[in-house]
Amino acid sequence: MKPLELISITFLLMLTIQVQGNERIWGGQIYKEKCAQCHGSTDPRFPVLQGQHASYLSMTLHSYINSRRQSTTMINIARKLSPLEIQFVSTYLSSKKFCSIDVIIDAKDGIMIEGKTIVQRGGCRNCHGQNFQGLAGPRLAGQKTDYLIKALQGYKTQSRRTHSPMTQIFTNYSRQDISDIAAYLNSLKSKVCN
Ligand code: HEC
Ligand code: HEC
Repeated sequence: MKPLELISITFLLMLTIQVQGNERIWGGQIYKEKCAQCHGSTDPRFPVLQGQHASYLSMTLHSYINSRRQSTTMINIARKLSPLEIQFVSTYLSSKKFCSIDVIIDAKDGIMIEGKTIVQRGGCRNCHGQNFQGLAGPRLAGQKTDYLIKALQGYKTQSRRTHSPMTQIFTNYSRQDISDIAAYLNSLKSKVCN
């Protein structure tokens, strides 16, 4: 490789790293100003976003924009974000550690065993990863129980119409199954954060 080529490639590489770094900084500012008061709190209604995959976050924000996900609060917020802001905030959040938010683990032992059996039978790990840290599907480990129940009920009742496999899978689960699953997934925080 000629010295000039090497210099241009090094320059391009540095520029890329610089842009990615800036994206995270700008994304961090957006998060602090517009999102952290809810998503950075321990309030059970607001899902933890830190440590979630960037592609899932940006896809989801677009699902609110086009109303495939129902939440008046999030639809209003997402519609005010530009495509670049969505990209930056998603890049920032995926670069952060999930465990920095103190999520309460409210599962009892017996319930957790039920939930574990159900997810094992359900083949959920094929899409959500061995430790539920996300694969083709989003990260679930340690997510807040109330939010998980709401999300799964949304698939069951088809009010959340973002993903047909999840909708098909969850028509077959009872309310009790769903709360057992949610309690188990929430309890995985202790495993993945230590
Ligand atoms: C007033 C509180 C509030 C604020 C501020 C807020 N959100 Fe939300 N957000 C919610 C609620 C409530 C939900 C759950 C809605 C649902 O069930 O679909 C949610 C859900 C989400 C989800 C879906 C998470 C998942 O696991 O599927 C994403 C992504 C999200 N918000 C991103 C953001 C971003 C980015 C901002 C800032 C620009 C923001 N939110 C600001 C309340 C808020
Ligand atoms: C074929 C792949 C696949 C399988 C199998 C699967 N999921 Fe999913 N799951 C996904 C995808 C993709 C999404 C995101 C869809 C969306 O945008 O709503 C998702 C979303 C979810 C969500 C919502 C997360 C959030 O932050 O809102 C939960 C909870 C969930 N899955 C639990 C499960 C459980 C429990 C099982 C097993 C019984 C399971 N999934 C099986 C692919 C899968």
